[in-house]
Amino acid sequence: MDQGKILAIDDEPNIRHLIQNEFSLEGFKVTTAGSGEEGLKLFEDQPFDVVLLDIRLPRMNGIEVLRRLKKKDPGPEVIMITAYGDIQTAVDSLKLGARDYLTKPFKLDELLSIVKKAVQDLREKSLSKPEGTGERPAESLPIVICPSPAMKKVYDLISRVAKTNHTVLLQGETGVGKDVLAYRIHQQSLRQDGPFVTVDCGLLSHNLAESELYGHRKGAFSGATEAKLGLVEKSHTGTLFLDEIGNIDMELQKKFLRFLETRSFRRIGEVKEQTIDTRIILATNLDLQEAIRKGDLRSDLFYRMTEFVIPIPPLRERPEDIPLLTQFFLSPYVKDGRKMDISKEALAVLTDYPWPGNIRELKAVIGKAALLADSSIRTEDFPAQVRARHYQSSHQPKTLEDMEKEHIMNVLAETEGNQTRASEVLGINRKTLYKKIKTYKIFS
Ligand SMILES: Nc1ncnc2c1ncn2[C@@H]1O[C@H](COP(=O)(O)OP(=O)(O)OP(=O)(O)O)[C@@H](O)[C@H]1O
Ligand SMILES: [Mg+2]
Repeated sequence: MDQGKILAIDDEPNIRHLIQNEFSLEGFKVTTAGSGEEGLKLFEDQPFDVVLLDIRLPRMNGIEVLRRLKKKDPGPEVIMITAYGDIQTAVDSLKLGARDYLTKPFKLDELLSIVKKAVQDLREKSLSKPEGTGERPAESLPIVICPSPAMKKVYDLISRVAKTNHTVLLQGETGVGKDVLAYRIHQQSLRQDGPFVTVDCGLLSHNLAESELYGHRKGAFSGATEAKLGLVEKSHTGTLFLDEIGNIDMELQKKFLRFLETRSFRRIGEVKEQTIDTRIILATNLDLQEAIRKGDLRSDLFYRMTEFVIPIPPLRERPEDIPLLTQFFLSPYVKDGRKMDISKEALAVLTDYPWPGNIRELKAVIGKAALLADSSIRTEDFPAQVRARHYQSSHQPKTLEDMEKEHIMNVLAETEGNQTRASEVLGINRKTLYKKIKTYKIFS
């Protein structure tokens, strides 16, 4: 029985053995690696469905390993294993393309169901094209139209600008839905039948960026054995979505400015300029003014890019959207032939939490809770950092110790689990905070 191929990267031999034994018994083919370097090598040599990746690894940490894995092949699902207190890193890993994260010590059953669901989704997805840099499949992705007044304003702006050819900049924190909204602009535009091409500027490899964007002639440089059409040209008559635009290489910026202004560019190795017809949408989660100050962004490019800016509010500023999004993310899950639902109290917990990873984090939390829960999601099915805040608002403190515990939990939620920052806020040293976390069993 081939349930799927798993690569487990962890420096603790016990965890490697545990995963090897348990997953083999369930019919998975398991390969293990004790370091990031070893894992990357294996990943290069053979195909895997799921990678289980420890965040704290010696030398090359899990986040760096994740970045490299995704660059090599964004297909396999990656599940991060984190120590408690690493919540911010775990949230960052979702942005880098990890599917989910689990906090140590984890329950094997939980890991098993997350992996099974990942393999199942992967198999269902295998017929459609992967997301990322390249052309999007033509069918539209189902999404929620958020009911909050703040998002109504965003949709209004989008429908007003969609029919024009203005360059649009979508600006907002990670996970607020910029990709989703960029595609919506394309769908509402007169170019909806043309291609929608996504370029992740953060993933453009430094040396090949120009050729990936503008293409090259055969023999233009050593290694250019075939002529190549650039992504820019592939978007002709459609929309070019330049994601993470704040990460565009300084060297590329001047040529990019010219392209933005004139839609003209030159394939590498060719003398003649090409001009194409494309609509440009940009997205960033950075403060671009700050990037200018730091010398990472040309100010002339900045002015050209900010012709029409649409700020996307973070989820914590529009909690009204959470119930509908939650229902939407729950809708694929069925238990005992019935659609899953969520208790009133659990929903209240979700609306209370500040969601540093925004909609992406909400989606991951719901997905994990749906695997753990029976037929209705309850507060206990959420990770500690999501529960922590609510504890404070729903229980009347009785003793000094209760109050201390609640205050610590609250500060940890505010600092997104960062213990160093939390200890600064609390005015105690890290060791003391660590002891208190253990005494009060805050993360268990
Ligand atoms: N309105 C929505 N309805 C359903 N799912 C959504 C909606 N908005 C966002 N999502 C989901 O949330 C996740 C994050 O969205 P998206 O990738 O668009 O965020 P982003 O702002 O581009 O983040 P980043 O800055 O990290 O690239 C995706 O899985 C997306 O499908
Ligand atoms: Mg994005």
